[in-house]
Amino acid sequence: MRQNPRSRIEDNSPESMNRQAWTIYGQFQLDRGFRTPDPDRIHWGTPGDAGPGTGVLGDIGGKRLLDLGCGGGHYAAHLARDHRAVVDAIDVAPTQHERALLQYADVPRVRFLLGDAVDHLHRCEPYDLVYSVHGLGYLHPHHTTACPPCTAACAPADGSSSPSSTPTFTAGRPQAASNRDN
Ligand SMILES: C[S@@+](CC[C@H](N)C(=O)[O-])C[C@H]1O[C@@H](n2cnc3c(N)ncnc32)[C@H](O)[C@@H]1O
Repeated sequence: MRQNPRSRIEDNSPESMNRQAWTIYGQFQLDRGFRTPDPDRIHWGTPGDAGPGTGVLGDIGGKRLLDLGCGGGHYAAHLARDHRAVVDAIDVAPTQHERALLQYADVPRVRFLLGDAVDHLHRCEPYDLVYSVHGLGYLHPHHTTACPPCTAACAPADGSSSPSSTPTFTAGRPQAASNRDN
């Protein structure tokens, strides 16, 4: 029997409440059997969807990427499958992680991780590129972009500087986010 997501709250910290909210959301999507349509490009959430698509990430074939707050995993799967990137995709909500595994566990070169993105940034090996589509807003700003672990995670392993090591993030407008499934 599936555990009630509401029973997964350990405390009332913002981090815990955030995890709880997304766990409930993921459970809702599991219960209604929602499967995210496979994207053929990244929709960054720019007005009119006039954004640069996946191309803004540059040539990512064979590169190690990290997706912060991957949700149902569709963008990580897209980058691994269609662009041959090697992607770690992390999400803090067990039910969101479960959704990603249900839909994309068989996609080569993508690994779905369950855990807090900031914790992972403190532990992980450097990535060539760290990105997030509508995920960064749920992380404490002082714990992510401004912190040494994120900077280190974005640095090429050989210590050289590279355009592809730039972190790439987007945060959608609330009214736009309310109209989409994540
Ligand atoms: C708005 S959804 C975006 C999902 C996906 N990136 C997309 O574009 O469809 C935000 C996701 O971030 C995840 N999230 C929130 N806080 C997180 C954290 N501290 N660490 C990892 N993932 C987190 C949520 O569980 C949720 O799946």
